[in-house]
Amino acid sequence: KCSHCRLFVFLSMWALDLEWISNIRVNTQAVLKRAQHIQGQKICRNQWQAAWLLKGVTCIDLTTLAGDDTPSNVHRLCLKAIQPVRYDLLKKMDMHNKGVTTAAVCVYPSRVADAVMLLKNSNLPVASVATGFPAGQTPLETRLQEVRRAVADGATEIDIVINRTLALTGQWKAMFDEIRQFREACGDAHMKTILAVGELGTFTNVYKASMVAMMAGSDFIKTSTGKEAVNATYPVAIVMARAIRNYFLRTGHKVGFKPAGGIRTAQECLVWLALIKEELGNDWLSPHLFRLGASSLLADIERQIYHYVTGQYAAYNELPIA
Ligand SMILES: *[C@@H]1O[C@H](CO)[C@@H](O)[C@H](O)[C@H]1NC(C)=O
Ligand SMILES: *[C@@H]1O[C@H](CO)[C@@H](O)[C@H](O)[C@H]1NC(C)=O
Repeated sequence: KCSHCRLFVFLSMWALDLEWISNIRVNTQAVLKRAQHIQGQKICRNQWQAAWLLKGVTCIDLTTLAGDDTPSNVHRLCLKAIQPVRYDLLKKMDMHNKGVTTAAVCVYPSRVADAVMLLKNSNLPVASVATGFPAGQTPLETRLQEVRRAVADGATEIDIVINRTLALTGQWKAMFDEIRQFREACGDAHMKTILAVGELGTFTNVYKASMVAMMAGSDFIKTSTGKEAVNATYPVAIVMARAIRNYFLRTGHKVGFKPAGGIRTAQECLVWLALIKEELGNDWLSPHLFRLGASSLLADIERQIYHYVTGQYAAYNELPIA
């Protein structure tokens, strides 16, 4: 997009429509039923399954967010992001020259520079959590500074957290204003807004918070930090996906979706892809509009692909981990 179009889109989008927000009601029973239906569907087998799993790999934000992260484990993570599935396995599937990588790596702000250096010869973006992740309990100026610093260090995607109290108590205008400030601090970097759905109470609140986050200019909305007691669940995902769909129908703007937290198995990955396909359609089945935030998921996917290619299950030492 040219910068003028971008500016125009932003000007027309960055508006808080409180009337729209106040009219939102989510039918909990309908959402739960829909989630059960999606989980209960038959999952495709064999080569289709392997293709879907590779699609899943390309949508992963390969993540490490631990207190003991060091340059060396970030180094391993980056190598894994560049070559997420063993070369010989990809070759057997004739996918070795298709540029299969994860979508991004995701790290804490102080590890951004390490990751940027390691990935400088690849096209892989570095994402950073910021704004006092995971709780967001630091002064606003500190949170803004953190965003600017991560961008200055080379992060091109910023995962911000919202002030949950604002969402819980329905202070939508204040939440909108705060997210807009983060949006400004992000500059050209993509902004993913983490709602921490496990702390928002009702589905209606999740839907409203999703809308406000999108109105304030989020490129993605993301379920969880992975540090709350409740992680990404399918019902909550359906609520957020419907908010994304309605926002698109109303504004023509496509916002991405990122479930994160506790997603570990290849089977779950397939359910997530099916959910996105059914709720949002094929346009959203790409790293531009869909990310899976995960750390151990890739290992299980690679094991399943190994099984598909060789007919056997890999011992853990046969597949290098991130
Ligand atoms: C979050 O919002 C609440 C309610 O307005 C406010 O009291 C609190 O100070 C905010 N938290 C931060 C870290 O700014
Ligand atoms: C949520 O995800 C985190 C990170 O993957 C995990 O440590 C935690 O056990 C999960 N919590 C639940 C309730 O699944």
